[in-house]
Amino acid sequence: KGKSKLVWLCSDCGYSDGQWWGTCRSCNKVGTLKQFSVSDDVEGGKVNGFEASENAMRSWLPKQKQSGPVRLSEVSRGTNHWDWRIRLTGTFGAEVARVLGGGVAPVHSSDGCLYVGSLILVGGDPGVGKSTLTLQIAALIADSCDVGRAGPVIYVSGEESIEQIGNRADRLSIDTEELFLYSSTDVEDIMEKVQLLCPRAVVIDSIQTVYLKGVTGGPGGLVQIGHVTKSGEIAGPRVLEHIVDVVLYMEGETHSSHRLLRSVKNRFGSTDELGVFEMSESGLQAVLNPSEMFLSEEHLDSEHLAGLAVAAIIDGSRTFLIEVQVDGCMLIWESFEIVRNSLSWPENNCFHYQALCVPGTSVARHINGVQASRADMIISVLKKQAGLKIEDNAVFLNVISGVTLEETAGDLAVAAAVYFWLRFTSSFLEFPIPNHVAFIGEIGLAGELRMVPRIEKRVNTLAKLGYKMCVVPKSAEKALAAVGYEGIEIVGCKNLKQVIDKVL
Ligand code: TYD
Ligand code: MG
Repeated sequence: KGKSKLVWLCSDCGYSDGQWWGTCRSCNKVGTLKQFSVSDDVEGGKVNGFEASENAMRSWLPKQKQSGPVRLSEVSRGTNHWDWRIRLTGTFGAEVARVLGGGVAPVHSSDGCLYVGSLILVGGDPGVGKSTLTLQIAALIADSCDVGRAGPVIYVSGEESIEQIGNRADRLSIDTEELFLYSSTDVEDIMEKVQLLCPRAVVIDSIQTVYLKGVTGGPGGLVQIGHVTKSGEIAGPRVLEHIVDVVLYMEGETHSSHRLLRSVKNRFGSTDELGVFEMSESGLQAVLNPSEMFLSEEHLDSEHLAGLAVAAIIDGSRTFLIEVQVDGCMLIWESFEIVRNSLSWPENNCFHYQALCVPGTSVARHINGVQASRADMIISVLKKQAGLKIEDNAVFLNVISGVTLEETAGDLAVAAAVYFWLRFTSSFLEFPIPNHVAFIGEIGLAGELRMVPRIEKRVNTLAKLGYKMCVVPKSAEKALAAVGYEGIEIVGCKNLKQVIDKVL
């Protein structure tokens, strides 16, 4: 008893070995194996700390007795069955349930208590709202009585005192009788206290603060499970992500009040869903019209500014409209300074945009929210097809609201925004893109417009929101016409040149 053993753990994949290797024998990364000592007297932790923590976590769940392989048709399915999910009610609950694949999956244990049969890991940047989210979910489960028997839900915090959590609960207007709070960082202590109450669900906030006695390394250390990095990723050994059933990530920009909840792993449902919330004084609230949430206010009530184009992007099963904005004024002004120093100020103060192209001055493109190489490609293609002079100039390209445009379906909107901005700056006449036009399509190297997945869905959303015109790849025109959308004109174009001729 009390003897400790040495183990080597790969910091990348979590592989453990009794001896050191230069190359991880599981993931083949070089130099990732690190030494840890683990004492023998940890229950369940025979050789390595991961087993200890996995067993500790798994021991919360009822064990299935299995004498050997079971025939498929004889396997009992009750536990993961949809009907057994704890339904989360209300608009907030429905939004969480959407991401979880229907609700939280509980199971019956042999002693008749209801346990939550799934381990859900929530990651995200500090301050993004994980504690708020989990407290709200805990309260919902505590209030939900459709699983047959009421039971407590315990919220354990290793970061905050129960008074602090109590205050937070007040702000969130939570006053359920079945919610219990506990503050501790010792896994064994938590399990002991928690089991006495036979809870329906337990929230641990956060996993990096709890530790298992007998395993060396501080809380959140390599052996003591995982931690969340600055960029919000669940780092360290990926063990934790392998053990749990569901991994959720919460995302959001600091300057925006929108919060996105995404599942990256889900044993009970699709990982293709996205929950959209808005932060408020009284906690997270589901966003009811997510399609429009990324549109700026100027867009919603007036004509587009020059260099602003709308794209229809699909994330999860829903369509979001986002704005691509291009500007160069600020940067032109900078290059203007260079021009002024080397040339003379034009008499009429009217500076032609192209006149600002000073040979030899390299001005960077500032690109936000689109992959830089993608934007470069689109700009080069546009240059060729429209005969534009852009290369030596600064382009400031931005996707509004801090969203990242990952889908190539947004290519055409990027091109349209750049084109419009250039036309504006080169003519000093304002030609805004009409307010009710949206652009869908991927751009190929020859400027051709390519089809994108689920285009009907995108156009449907645009039609519902009152868009008057949608520019799409020619190949999609027929299929869309067959669907027959009301009030929206579908303009099919073969390539960028056609888009410019027909629409811009
Ligand atoms: P918190 O839930 O503590 O974030 P995390 O656990 O991810 O670090 O939230 C951070 C702060 O934001 C906290 O002071 C509470 C506040 N907040 C709201 O006021 N309303 C909200 O809807 C959310 C999600 C957070
Ligand atoms: Mg927190």
